[in-house]
Amino acid sequence: MDQLPFDQPHPNLLEELKELREKINYHNYLYNTLDQPEISDYEYDQLFNRLKEIERNHPELITPDSPTQKVGAKPSERFQKVNHPTQVLSLTNAFGSQETMDWYNRLLRLEPELEKADFVLEPKLDGLTVVLHYYNGVFTLGATRGDGLVGEDITANLRTIPSLPLRIPVKPGIIVPREIVFRGEALILKEDFTKLNAELEAKGEKTYLNPRNTAAGSLRQLDPAITASRPLKLFVYQILHASDTIPDTQEGILDYIKALGLPCDSLRWHADNIQDAIAICEAQTMARHDWPFEADGIVIKINNQTLSNRLGSIGKDARGAVAFKYPGEVVETSLLDIQNNVGRTGVITPLAILESVMVGGVVVKQATLHNFDFIADKDIRIGDRVLLKRAGEVIPYIISSIPEKRDGSQIPFIPPSNCPSCDTALIKDSDAVAWYCENVNCPAQLNRTIENYASRTAMDIAGLGEKIVVQLTEAGLLKSIADLYILRKDELLKLDKFGELKASNLLNAIEASKSQSLQRLIIGLGIHGIGEVSAGDLARHFKSLDALAQASPDDLQSIPGIGPNTAESIVHWFSQTQNQATLQRLKSYGIWPVIQEQAKTESPKPLEGLTFVITGTLPNMSRDEAKQLIESNGGKTTGSVSKNTSYLLLGENPGSKLDKALDLGIPTISEEDLNNILNI
Ligand code: IVH
Repeated sequence: MDQLPFDQPHPNLLEELKELREKINYHNYLYNTLDQPEISDYEYDQLFNRLKEIERNHPELITPDSPTQKVGAKPSERFQKVNHPTQVLSLTNAFGSQETMDWYNRLLRLEPELEKADFVLEPKLDGLTVVLHYYNGVFTLGATRGDGLVGEDITANLRTIPSLPLRIPVKPGIIVPREIVFRGEALILKEDFTKLNAELEAKGEKTYLNPRNTAAGSLRQLDPAITASRPLKLFVYQILHASDTIPDTQEGILDYIKALGLPCDSLRWHADNIQDAIAICEAQTMARHDWPFEADGIVIKINNQTLSNRLGSIGKDARGAVAFKYPGEVVETSLLDIQNNVGRTGVITPLAILESVMVGGVVVKQATLHNFDFIADKDIRIGDRVLLKRAGEVIPYIISSIPEKRDGSQIPFIPPSNCPSCDTALIKDSDAVAWYCENVNCPAQLNRTIENYASRTAMDIAGLGEKIVVQLTEAGLLKSIADLYILRKDELLKLDKFGELKASNLLNAIEASKSQSLQRLIIGLGIHGIGEVSAGDLARHFKSLDALAQASPDDLQSIPGIGPNTAESIVHWFSQTQNQATLQRLKSYGIWPVIQEQAKTESPKPLEGLTFVITGTLPNMSRDEAKQLIESNGGKTTGSVSKNTSYLLLGENPGSKLDKALDLGIPTISEEDLNNILNI
């Protein structure tokens, strides 16, 4: 091969760069858009750091579309776009003490004043970043981070979080800027997550994988009622914009956020210098498992905000803070067995059955083995000692076996050639990785289909979990989802452990499912590639199953987020005679929802929960008009000021109502303020 000029990167490096960028983009999409990561944060960071390292050594190879030049995900097309008041920056990761010192030393060269800097440390909360706008103390808009400049309007969903104040309460001596925009993290506490899953398990329903994705998925719902049903919490840690002066230290900002009544995590540390900051992070390595939320690190922030802001940003990352990250914990255990699970669409997934082991604060008994190629490539054998990893927030997975520890009793795994449920010969999927069972009448697939139909995000039939589904299919009572609607009590009463109460509860729950929304029914059909998000898009676009069933691949692909494979899968599903028959039957039983556009797309009214009193002469509208405007936007109006009044709408020549409001500390707003709140 020709010698390359010494200043040109080696072709292998270009290859690696291309591969890294593709991989990172793919994982960004899985994580940010689908909320379904396939790799741990730790592995993602490894890829990202390698890309950064290459680009640092070869700045000429940086392209504008490189993942290093972007913050987070591209906003999806489902929600309204929101421009952020300032770029919502990200953080540089530092794995361990040395990388944290490297970060500090790099900054010190830029800014010698850093030598005297003190630091504030906060848990790096693992949830979904949210941007919260308040105007005159009223919560007017909430958004996701999106690409850092433009996010998605998720106001309606955020309003359902109990700890988010819809109005900043007025307190003596605390100034509320006319405009203030906060940044925080929405998440689910570990305890709430365990409780949520325990409840689901008790009902025999499918449990969630991890708090982070459950929280993120909950906030990116089109139906705020779904968000409301999840135990979301919120912690605010930054002010992105304020129309008044705010404290100039991070500590002061956190205290101010708390004083304003916004939820702020009480866990934080102060360090006089970087060495102390690192020592605190190290001391928390184990203790962090006792924190109430999942966190994969600690954010070290320069306390002095003037200094921090002066340092600015590099690419997508703020310079004035760093994320000290803990690597995912790795433990050793024994692989007792490998089970082959048949999924709803027939794909066979190998599952590792493990000797119980504690990792990342939880007991793990099972882990995914991805697919048969993975087991073969890594030469994983039944009986092996294996290394298992859990990076805090993701499902545990097996990294490798430890061949040195074999004693000869280990058995190589032989992938099944036939379906473990119906014995049909397995075939390889077009992606050449997964094997699947093609039998449309496969009992395991039928069970999964019915489980999915009854699941909480689909038709939400309480009491119809995995065990009951198996009981009903084995008794021959269910051969399709449509059979649910012809189940009779006398048939149920003949089954083991089915009493009067259990039977009527189940039948009532099935009956109640008849009025579920189109989005839920589409999820329930179990079309390959259609989850909560795309089902919502399809429902909004087609408004009925009649229209969806007629859609061509082109019609389907005109919807953002529906690609050629999904479009094909939808068309294929509706072309199957068996599915057509099921739909016909559902229709005849009255299960044929048509989208009620208003109810689904209307966001909660901006003045909901607020009570107004009007006084004086308003510049552009009569008092009656103001009353109507407030009420049509969900607010209430009353005639006299009391402690329950949220605002006094103040015109010219006010009466005694103003004195009363001043007495009680009730804020006043002008007609212009009201219009601003309502975006008029
Ligand atoms: S500060 C410029 N503080 O971690 C300031 N971020 O990329 C940057 N995060 O998704 C953010 N807890 O939303 C900060 N206490 C905390 C945080 C935190 C979690 C998230 C952040 C972003 C990621 C950092």
